[in-house]
Amino acid sequence: MAESLTKLAFLCCFCLFTLPFSHASDSILPNQSLPDGKFIVSSNGAFEMGFFSPDNSKNRFFGIWYKIISTGTVVWVANRDSPLNDTSGALTLTQDGNLIVLNTTNGHVFWSSRGNYTSNTQNPVAQLLESGNLVIRDANDENPGNYLWQSFDHPSDTALPGMKMGKNLVTGLDRVLRSWKNGDDPSMGNYSYLLDSHGFPQLFLMGSGSVERFRVGPWNGETFSGTPTLKKNQIYTLEFVSNREEIYYTVHTINSSVFVRLVLNHSGHLERSSWNHRTQAWTNIFTRPNGNCDNYRNCYGYGICDIKSSPVCSCLDKFKPQNEEDWAGGDSSSGCVRRTPLNCTNDGFIKYSGVKLPDTRNS
Ligand SMILES: *[C@@H]1O[C@H](CO)[C@@H](O)[C@H](O)[C@H]1NC(C)=O
Ligand SMILES: *[C@@H]1O[C@H](CO)[C@@H](O)[C@H](O)[C@H]1NC(C)=O
Ligand SMILES: *[C@@H]1O[C@H](CO)[C@@H](O)[C@H](O)[C@H]1NC(C)=O
Ligand SMILES: *[C@@H]1O[C@H](CO)[C@@H](O)[C@H](O)[C@H]1NC(C)=O
Ligand SMILES: *[C@@H]1O[C@H](CO)[C@@H](O)[C@H](O)[C@H]1NC(C)=O
Ligand SMILES: *[C@@H]1O[C@H](CO)[C@@H](O)[C@H](O)[C@H]1NC(C)=O
Ligand SMILES: *[C@@H]1O[C@H](CO)[C@@H](O)[C@H](O)[C@H]1NC(C)=O
Ligand SMILES: *[C@@H]1O[C@H](CO)[C@@H](O)[C@H](O)[C@H]1NC(C)=O
Repeated sequence: MAESLTKLAFLCCFCLFTLPFSHASDSILPNQSLPDGKFIVSSNGAFEMGFFSPDNSKNRFFGIWYKIISTGTVVWVANRDSPLNDTSGALTLTQDGNLIVLNTTNGHVFWSSRGNYTSNTQNPVAQLLESGNLVIRDANDENPGNYLWQSFDHPSDTALPGMKMGKNLVTGLDRVLRSWKNGDDPSMGNYSYLLDSHGFPQLFLMGSGSVERFRVGPWNGETFSGTPTLKKNQIYTLEFVSNREEIYYTVHTINSSVFVRLVLNHSGHLERSSWNHRTQAWTNIFTRPNGNCDNYRNCYGYGICDIKSSPVCSCLDKFKPQNEEDWAGGDSSSGCVRRTPLNCTNDGFIKYSGVKLPDTRNS
């Protein structure tokens, strides 16, 4: 009896509060809910959010995708690791500023935005911004610095322009891209893309078991060392910030109507692409890793990798293979050693240009 009363109370709640919901708006107010089958669109019409099922799946996920792209390219998933198996779900904003995905029939919560923030706002609102960022903020405060929560801080497998890739050193927030398991399952896959702040900060693409797969060279003031294709393009600019509070990079599109995204796909490749409205297809800007030399530690200690030579590995000047026989057989895993021992009295430096800097985690 008690249980059915509770159920009834739940039912009434959702009957009452889904009704006044305005679909013209890009926002959800406290006690309002967005049920499965209804959608919210950002004010520029670029992004849409609601429940979806991946191609060959019946599971229901709450996510954000490009509204005007017919294939519905998903950029963010809330309950990626806890899908609903029916259409009983809704997204609701609670009075104390928490977004939840729940079963409207029995009230079971599948996902919650609640992190470690204490919200003392009386007036929370959840809004899908033009950038594709879903934010919770005070209704009277649009300052991005005061957002209570934002989906850009909890990315799935996609980085959008304006999203910071990296760490907040004060709060410990770490924004990491994680691949989907496969095309039908957005749950956490084996690959991640993250900023490592040890030594001189670098970005790493990691495979299963936290094994380095690819390293982006460190920021050299203009671009990431070892990524010449990034330097000049007409589509976006890079911004890198490193101070006591945060270390991150972000991209800014030059024309905000151009869709640009960085995806860590489920086979472990980073793909940056832009949407071509005319051909209705994504145009690849770059893919990483790209070729043997992009594989982490491909030529081992004191080796140098050149994709244009064969074999690709050789030793730095004044170094020789540690094991000549292995190297001759095409196995460079023993790396290189000095030809003569280091003598700090009269040894100097040899200049190399146009190369990616070595791993700077210990520098
Ligand atoms: C939301 O629901 C709670 C609990 O029923 C109620 O106290 C609060 O006033 C409601 N808020 C709004 C804005 O309707
Ligand atoms: C939602 O709740 C109803 C009633 O308890 C239940 O029959 C259904 O299986 C639930 N669905 C999910 C996805 O939990
Ligand atoms: C759906 O999930 C609920 C729990 O969330 C479970 O009780 C129910 O049996 C599932 N239904 C199907 C058809 O798998
Ligand atoms: C909240 O903080 C605790 C302790 O710092 C941490 O263990 C936990 O993972 C945090 N929870 C979330 C959701 O960030
Ligand atoms: C993830 O890695 C594990 C261990 O290497 C492997 O067994 C599994 O098949 C991988 N999963 C996917 C989706 O690639
Ligand atoms: C920006 O991009 C849109 C869509 O591709 C295009 O229609 C518009 O002319 C561009 N604006 C500028 C200033 O290049
Ligand atoms: C991931 O990206 C690579 C490089 O662009 C591509 O070859 C591969 O097919 C992609 N995998 C998936 C599952 O889309
Ligand atoms: C280093 O070079 C200097 C000058 O050639 C020589 O006097 C010294 O013995 C060398 N030291 C070592 C450790 O080889």
